[in-house]
Amino acid sequence: MSDTAPHRTESPASTQGNSSRIDREIARRRTFAIISHPDAGKTTLTEKLLLYGGAIHLAGSVKARRATRHATSDWMEMEKERGISVTSSVLQFDYDGYRINLLDTPGHQDFSEDTYRTLVAADAAVMLLDNRKGVEEQTRKLFNVCKLRRTPVFTLVNKCDRPGEDPFQLLDDVEADLGVECYPVTWPITDRGQFVGVVNRRTGEAVLFRKGADHGQTQVQTDRYPLDDDAVTEALGSEIADRIREEIALLDMAGAEFDADAITAGTLSPTFFGSALTNFGIEPFLHTFLDYAPPPPPRETVDDVVHPEEDDFSGFVFKIQANLDPRHRDRIAFVRIVSGRFDAGMEVDNRRSGQKVRLAQPQTFMARERQAVEEAWPGDVVGIHDRGSLRIGDTLTAGRSLEFRDIPRFSPEHFARISVEDPLRRKHLDNGLRQLSEEGAAQVFYAPSIAGPAPIVGAVGPLQFDVLLHRLEHEYGVEARLERLPYTQARWITGSDAQVQALAAGYDRQLVHDSRERPLILFKTEWSMQRTIEKGADGGVEFHSVAP
Ligand code: G4P
Repeated sequence: MSDTAPHRTESPASTQGNSSRIDREIARRRTFAIISHPDAGKTTLTEKLLLYGGAIHLAGSVKARRATRHATSDWMEMEKERGISVTSSVLQFDYDGYRINLLDTPGHQDFSEDTYRTLVAADAAVMLLDNRKGVEEQTRKLFNVCKLRRTPVFTLVNKCDRPGEDPFQLLDDVEADLGVECYPVTWPITDRGQFVGVVNRRTGEAVLFRKGADHGQTQVQTDRYPLDDDAVTEALGSEIADRIREEIALLDMAGAEFDADAITAGTLSPTFFGSALTNFGIEPFLHTFLDYAPPPPPRETVDDVVHPEEDDFSGFVFKIQANLDPRHRDRIAFVRIVSGRFDAGMEVDNRRSGQKVRLAQPQTFMARERQAVEEAWPGDVVGIHDRGSLRIGDTLTAGRSLEFRDIPRFSPEHFARISVEDPLRRKHLDNGLRQLSEEGAAQVFYAPSIAGPAPIVGAVGPLQFDVLLHRLEHEYGVEARLERLPYTQARWITGSDAQVQALAAGYDRQLVHDSRERPLILFKTEWSMQRTIEKGADGGVEFHSVAP
């Protein structure tokens, strides 16, 4: 084993001692999200994590969901699917003494601001890559959100059961593309294109997989030997054994050094190779990930920091799921707990509205079922029934008064002018847009026009528009029309009025304001945006991809 190889931290089961209940609960919590491009294997991996966590016994039950998801093309279909997508928004399960909260980041067509906002509630991310494709578009976008927030990212190269890009080349590409260093904790062992094991650099062992006959439905059996042991040469043959030892020596010599602080700061990504389909390499990944992913950290407030072990409960709303049941107007607000202990039915203050809120009928999400919850701890997510009093970003506290920083608004990539046929309904439209934008269902901007500010809606994923129209009609009685606009980029801009006006002049752009009167420029192309950013930089003008 190399000197720089990571060592296991104390397992949560061994940190009993005299520590208080809250300290123990915090130490064993891991709250994370998987970031990936569609088809990299997120659904499959999620299922395998549940399998290893004992939350399900046979893998394969998620397939039906995948089949329906691909067919999802309209909002009504989405509604039907909601029952599933809600319960899978947060999956809680136990493994090796840890309590794991896996937050689902909606992908595919329902890629939306929710996808980004979920990362604000996660303490770490697992970046799942296809071994033939490396970093893809959605992965890159999500990674950049993690980078911005300095969230630790662990990389899992998936689908190693079939031949892919050379691992050295793949990691070089990841590093160059994302500007992060990779530290391979496991390294693939292949025999004539077959994935037969991994070297675990942390333990210095070769982990050789025994082929199971159940196609990955159950946990994989392995044989483990110290890498230099004769048993490895015997099992793999001397040619392969020597090659693998050389590769590991090369990594030790020339590769990144293991540095726990750099992992925490999000600049070094511990990297693993595996196959979610066959379960090969999943267990070594899970062990190291759980040991090195951070427990719930302190979180910044507007003027201070809240530590998870504080007695007073605090949390924030990061997602609101509307119209779970079309017959009722109820919504579920997802609250990420930051500090203290949560008790069912407790009364908390909503800082923004000044109202008291009773957190009644809270739920957690064990495996695929919702369950009533009596108590919860920092790192956990509880779903609260809400009748419209909560908004995304709301701080909820019991005890001392504080306010978490705003959940950032991320730049949309699709834009449309929105209008109503009947001018008498314009007020209803404005009202609906205001509420839906507060709830985070879409972003609303205003362009100057002779008839007053004309609303433009922006979305991160195009399906958000369908949802918006449907909800305006059914919840606000407004039949609105969308006219798609050719812009693909938006940047908030800070500079003098004259500078903003000058930079916003041009046929391929449009100046708008958000609901807080902050100016943005919408651009048709990435190229014209980059040129404008460079031009602005000379005059000290700043552009922001997240609302300043
Ligand atoms: P997603 O949620 O990220 O979109 O990916 P998902 O798990 O649905 O997997 C996408 C496809 O990749 C599926 O194939 C799945 O079986 C396959 N896959 C996932 N992990 C692995 C892996 O480790 N190795 C290999 N070889 N394939 C993997 P599909 O053809 O779309 O579905 P199916 O017919 O296999 O069910």
